[in-house]
Amino acid sequence: MTTGSFPNTRFRRTKSSDALRRLTAENTLSVDDFIWPVFVRDGENETTAIPSMPGVERLTVDRIVRAAEEAATLAIPAICLFPYTDPSLKTADCAEAWNPDNLTNRAIRAIKAEVPEIAVMTDIALDPYNIDGHDGFVRDGIIVNDETVEALVKMARAQAEAGADILGPSDMMDGRIGALRAALEDDGHVNVAILSYAAKYASAFYGPFRDAVGASGALKSDKKTYQMNPANGDEALRLVERDLREGADMVMVKPGMPYLDICRRVKDAFGAPTYAYQVSGEYAMLKGAAANGWLDGDKVMEESLLSFKRAGCDGILTYFAPAMARILNARKA
Ligand code: PBG
Repeated sequence: MTTGSFPNTRFRRTKSSDALRRLTAENTLSVDDFIWPVFVRDGENETTAIPSMPGVERLTVDRIVRAAEEAATLAIPAICLFPYTDPSLKTADCAEAWNPDNLTNRAIRAIKAEVPEIAVMTDIALDPYNIDGHDGFVRDGIIVNDETVEALVKMARAQAEAGADILGPSDMMDGRIGALRAALEDDGHVNVAILSYAAKYASAFYGPFRDAVGASGALKSDKKTYQMNPANGDEALRLVERDLREGADMVMVKPGMPYLDICRRVKDAFGAPTYAYQVSGEYAMLKGAAANGWLDGDKVMEESLLSFKRAGCDGILTYFAPAMARILNARKA
């Protein structure tokens, strides 16, 4: 990289018109970059607002199918399902997690029947089904690893059987990627992808999500014995390497904006398909400020999403997916 001196070099030349700015743009945001997370609830033709996530609603399965259609029309490649499980179905043994007819599995089947072209991603973790609100089984106050992995495998098998295209283990147990991959191979689901939540931090930015899936009340204590310490960076690389070796096809850094350094390091170190999750708290911050007139909502949405591309990400899980897609598509038209 060489840079001459003034006036041979004037950085303002390449900024002097829209055409020049477009020609010299190093990164672009595309609808192809988005995975849209959505919340599923029981019932028919109903929605529930999530106050801490303005503009996001829990949708019944029929409405989720409409959302998938909308996503496909906007050319968003993937949708990611998170269930709001009725509290009466939450138990210590989390059996609802691998019920072939649970909300997630019903939603997968319904989407695949009506909108087969969209990729359906799922969440693998026990928290929506766990009376304790944790991603793993709790025994005497300890989140047990190996027993949880066995349950995650059952959950994954049911989701793959229902037609999921991408499994998203978000639990942060050790050894789960290898176990899931072996089960998928065994069952003949050789093309079901695993997008591992490889570098997932114990973050307070997940607060609104826990409201959305109804886990806030259930969760006692925190997730620090399995999610990463926000102080760590090298460990993220070791986790990503481990998950790739065990059979992950794609890896994720989560949350997004406070961890862009990790996105860049992961992409540079492995060159694997790398995703960031712009989580509920990031969405809530931007929406909250915009609602107060403190920020221009559309502009910070786009700038925040572009930052992930600059940091090396191949894609972003974002609640902004449809709103951003509408703007990008209108620009092309
Ligand atoms: C739980 C899970 C969480 C999110 C995705 N899967 C929350 C948590 O770990 O407590 C967070 C997503 C968001 O905040 O948008 N397995």
